[in-house]
Parts: sequence; structure tokens; C-alpha cells
Amino acid sequence: MKKLKVELGTCSYEIRVGTGLLARIGLWLKGRDFSGKAVIITDTIVEGLYAEVLERGLANAGFDVTILEVPPGEEQKSLETAGRLYDDLTEAYAERTTPVLALGGGVIGDLAGFVAATYMRGVPLIQVPTTLLAQVDSSIGGKTAVDHGQLKNIIGVFYQPKMVVADIDTLKTLPEIELANGLAEVIKTAAIRNKSFFNFLDINMNKALQYHPSVLETVVLETARIKAEIVEKDEKEVGLRGILNYGHTIGHAIEAVSDYELKHGQAVAIGMMAAAKISSRMEILDEVDIVKLERIIEKAGLPTEMPDMDKEAVWQAMQHDKKVAQDRIRFVLLRSIGNAFISDEIDPALVEEVLVGWG
Ligand code: NAD
Ligand code: GLY
Repeated sequence: MKKLKVELGTCSYEIRVGTGLLARIGLWLKGRDFSGKAVIITDTIVEGLYAEVLERGLANAGFDVTILEVPPGEEQKSLETAGRLYDDLTEAYAERTTPVLALGGGVIGDLAGFVAATYMRGVPLIQVPTTLLAQVDSSIGGKTAVDHGQLKNIIGVFYQPKMVVADIDTLKTLPEIELANGLAEVIKTAAIRNKSFFNFLDINMNKALQYHPSVLETVVLETARIKAEIVEKDEKEVGLRGILNYGHTIGHAIEAVSDYELKHGQAVAIGMMAAAKISSRMEILDEVDIVKLERIIEKAGLPTEMPDMDKEAVWQAMQHDKKVAQDRIRFVLLRSIGNAFISDEIDPALVEEVLVGWG
């Protein structure tokens, strides 16, 4: 097992990455200032796969465990489901010191994180991510939220977990499409911050796709390390943390216009290519780096071209994105692989030109 620290003063915490970790979490939580109860919040798919081993470990460590399940899917990131979970926590007599363990993908991490942040003004949260996306991205950094109306993540709070435990073994059951979804965020993280990790990914992508445990461990560890370093510098996304949105401005619009038929990672992959093309048109990024980016995205089985969709609609959808303010588009651009920056100075006409003139 490898450990990383997210240094945030009194809110610092550890990320533990390795195999066979779920069963050990109970022992790690024992002896902390927690109550004798523990609550696992999970979805029905992950419950059937991993709740038992986690529960047993907690019970062996002396915790009285309650498991709360929700159906899988983004629709569960709602105030309604959060409300039901508050009722369940009350019924389980959860106390202020009762740890809540978010066992699942990003949906569970965001939902259970939001519930833990708000129930009794905050109970201890342990993130136990089981998708690659959750292990490398959503479980780290304290963003918790639910959706509301048509808007994603619009009601939420920054609330750091007490610990993140990424058990690589859980990735073995992850459908291929979900692995690729997570790999999009992995590629993004390397592309914005670390060229040598990008090269590692380029060489090892096939092994990652074949669920090679030591490669996946490095992938999770290095991506988590980069994200942790960014969060340490800018916890509340006042500046630097915004670079994690690389590929997301256009990506979100593409995802919405596809009616969510495209997975988030697929849309982000296309968004990364678009942002690279814009960087190149502005003569900031070398063509060689676009080719490298394209190659690695393809290796991960992700798209690099705009799908056959109404590009004007994508452009229109971007106008509603929260990153568009006062007629200027906020974009993350690349100077080179491993070196990204945020610009508020993008000429909207150039973005439209790249989008509409693509393919
Ligand atoms: P998800 O949580 O919906 O999980 C995807 C599917 O995989 C679900 O059906 C789930 O039941 C299943 N699953 C989970 N683990 C499994 C396993 N080990 N084996 C088999 N099946 C498994 O999706 P996701 O991609 O993990 O997360 C997406 C969510 O994350 C979105 O709501 C997004 O807004 C959020 N997110 C949050 C942040 C943040 O910083 N908080 C960052 C990125 C994304
Ligand atoms: N997923 C972007 C962030 O955590 O800031």
C-alpha cells in the first residue's frame, strides 16, 4: 500500500492506494475519536460487490454498521435522495462522531459527501471510491454536491474527507466503458501538469486497459498526487484548481447536446482535443503535442473527433455553461504537454470557428 497526504492544515488527510484495502478500513478507523457506529452509503450494484467485506472489517473492529443503499445513477444526486438519507441516519441514531463511508463511484462520493457535510453540521466522511474516476478525481479535494433542476452539482459544499481509501482490486469488476471514462480524467491530469507521467501512460495504456494491478496502482497514485498538489494550493478553486477543468468547457456542452448518450469521459476526450486545437490556433501549442494527445486518447479507446452532432447547438450550449461570463469564455489551454493555464481572454469567434470548422 502507498500513502499520500493532502496537506490542508487541520483538514489534512491521507489517501491510501493499494490492493486488499477494503477489509482493513475498520482497523484504521478504530482508535480514532469516532462513535461505535459506522454508516456505509453505497449504490445497489456496489453493495452487491463490496459492502460485505467492508462491513465485516468494520464489525470486526467493533463498529455497529448500518448500510444505506440507493439505486445507481446520476439521478440519485438529488436533494430528494439526500433527504431520504437524512431520515435513515436519524433512524440509525447516527451521531456527530459517526463516520459515514462513501462506497462507490463519483455519484455516491458526491451524494454521501454532501449528506455527511450537512447532517448535524458535518459528520466524519471516509471516501472509499470504487470507480477509476472516483479514485483519481472525485474522492479527492472535498467537492460534494447534488444536482438541482437541469443543473449539475449546483447545490454543494467543500467538505474534506478524513481519509480516502482507493482499493485497486475493486476496479476488476468495473465495466470497460467506466474504465475508459476514468482514463479520460487521468489523461487530462497528466496533460495539464506532468509530462513524464503522460509518457508513462502512453507506454502503459494497454496494460491499464487490461486491469494490470501494478500499472493501475501507479495510475491512481500519480493522478491522485497531482490532484492533491493542486488542491493543496487552491482548495476552493479561486485560481489554479480551475486547470482541472481542461477539456470540460466544450466537453460539458457535447455531453448535454448528445443527451448524455456520450459518457462524460468521452465528451471530455473530445473537449481536450478541441482545447488543444484552440491552443494551437493561438500559436501557443506545438502541433507535435496535439498528435501526442490524440494518440494517447485513442489508445484509451476514447474519441478524438467531434461526433455527428449539431455543432451550432454545442456552441449554444456553451453559452449557458457556468464558465462563460460577461461575453468571455474561460478556457484551460495547453502551452505544452504537462503545462496548462487558464485564460479568460479567448476570442469566442475562434472557439466557434474551431467547433464549426471541425470534421
Ligand atoms: P458512477 O458513480 O455513476 O459509477 C458508474 C457506474 O459504475 C455505476 O453504475 C456504479 O454502480 C458502477 N460501479 C461503481 N464501482 C463499481 C465497481 N467497482 N465495479 C462495477 N461497477 C461499479 O460514476 P462515476 O463516473 O464514478 O462518477 C460520476 C460522478 O462523479 C458525476 O456525478 C460527477 O459529477 C462526479 N464528479 C465529481 C467530482 C468531484 O470533484 N467531486 C469530480 C469528477 C466527477
Ligand atoms: N473535478 C475538478 C475538481 O475537483 O476541482
